[in-house]
Amino acid sequence: MSNYDLAVIVLAAGKGTRLKSSLAKVLHKAGGRTLVEHIVRACEPLKARDRVVVVGHQPEQVAGVIEPLGAVTVLQQPQNGTGHAVQVAKRTLGRAKFALVLPGDAPLVRTETLKALIATHRNGNAAATILSAVVADPSGYGRIVRKSETAVSAIVEESQLTDEQREINEINSAIYCFTLENLWPALAQVKPNNKHRELYLTDAIAVMSGKGETVLAQVAGDSREVLGCNTRADLAEVDRIFREWKRNELMDAGVTIQLPETVLIDPDVTAGEDTVIEAGVQLLGKTKLGARCSVKTGSVLADAVLGDDVTVEPHCVVVQSRLDDRVIIGPFARLRPGNHLKAGARLGNFVEVKKSTIGEGTKVPHLTYLGDTKVGSKTNVGAGTITCNYDGFEKFPTTIGNKVFIGSDSVLVAPVRIGDGAYIAAGSTITENVPADSLGIGRGRQVNKPGWASKKRRELAAATQPKKSSRRRSRKKSNRKTNRRK
Ligand code: UD1
Ligand code: MG
Repeated sequence: MSNYDLAVIVLAAGKGTRLKSSLAKVLHKAGGRTLVEHIVRACEPLKARDRVVVVGHQPEQVAGVIEPLGAVTVLQQPQNGTGHAVQVAKRTLGRAKFALVLPGDAPLVRTETLKALIATHRNGNAAATILSAVVADPSGYGRIVRKSETAVSAIVEESQLTDEQREINEINSAIYCFTLENLWPALAQVKPNNKHRELYLTDAIAVMSGKGETVLAQVAGDSREVLGCNTRADLAEVDRIFREWKRNELMDAGVTIQLPETVLIDPDVTAGEDTVIEAGVQLLGKTKLGARCSVKTGSVLADAVLGDDVTVEPHCVVVQSRLDDRVIIGPFARLRPGNHLKAGARLGNFVEVKKSTIGEGTKVPHLTYLGDTKVGSKTNVGAGTITCNYDGFEKFPTTIGNKVFIGSDSVLVAPVRIGDGAYIAAGSTITENVPADSLGIGRGRQVNKPGWASKKRRELAAATQPKKSSRRRSRKKSNRKTNRRK
């Protein structure tokens, strides 16, 4: 569909008083993205000639979100209502004949629904076509007042409803298609007749209808698409729906998700067939999972890239890291940014890694910290190994070769290199490079002292025994007491 004559106007200048927040409403997030970003993205495939976002509160931050998506901003200062916001956008519209107007706080709308709305508008030669929805609870929304089955006479805001109109359950989504040559004169006639003294775009509908122009309302197939976010509860509900849609998308693509309602997945996440995601998992940012992976309960992956057949045991945190095929991590592993675990590598419980490369088949099974470290392939890093990569001022690298054996409880003071095939004796503090195939040992030599322990025990026992004389005195005293009681 070509929309060379269409402008998209997103109204995003309002503060969002009902959210009680210092952040502008449209910058709040649901489903892993800001509200305004969802809307601008949904309009992108329409290929409209202009995409304009009306900004007011925190305009630079809103521009920072939408300009990378190719939309432009226009400043509404002060914010005198939705009708005023559309008037402010007028100067940026060039030669558009139609405008699709959307609020910045209804992020669930789908491109297909917008396409259908525009088609209805064009086919009906309408002055305005409203996207409406029939809902169980219409409170808070403007109501659609129809004058016939097909034609609309007005939108009445909640605050101005008569008792009879309060029963209407067809609501205004605040998404409309307008023919601009009809809209501008109608808006010019709108008066700020409401308690906020604002110019309501909704009032232009009655003006157009009163002039005998065609005003249509198209009912959305899925009423959830028009949910607006005015309160924190609305945000939570919209987030829940986005998350459900995303999980369904992955399940349709062959991913198993256990207890789906407990799993949170951001919009850009992808996963291969037969991957299993257990309850309570979060997959965030641009995380990509290969095929047949298993991400177990309580794990959080952000911007993680997993190959095929990767296992993430319970309660791992993985940030900005790459895990190649057949890697196994956890339970309780923490991967901070910048790691690359090569094929078949294993990281066990209570292991923390940062900016490190772990070679193919290398094992780091327990209680270890590796920072700024390169480990070769088929190396074994024993329990309790720590790289000291920081001296309080700078970070230093550690390099561990192939087929190295690091004994448990070793401290590697960076910068330091351990050559291929080397052994590090358990409990060592390694401050100098260890050449290939050597033993590095850096600890005090053990001394055994025969009989020392029993002698010590005797000494301690003697020192803690009470003196004889005082014991006798106290025994006599207690006898006197017992006799009296008799
Ligand atoms: C609006 C509609 C209501 C509809 C509901 C659907 C009006 C008067 N009412 O009510 O009929 O049922 O949406 O969600 O339009 N904005 C500006 N500049 C302004 C005022 C608002 O850009 O001066 C923007 C806001 O940032 C927001 C959008 O317009 O993104 C809608 O404003 P909001 O205050 O949320 O209107 P509602 O009360 O939800
Ligand atoms: Mg709203």
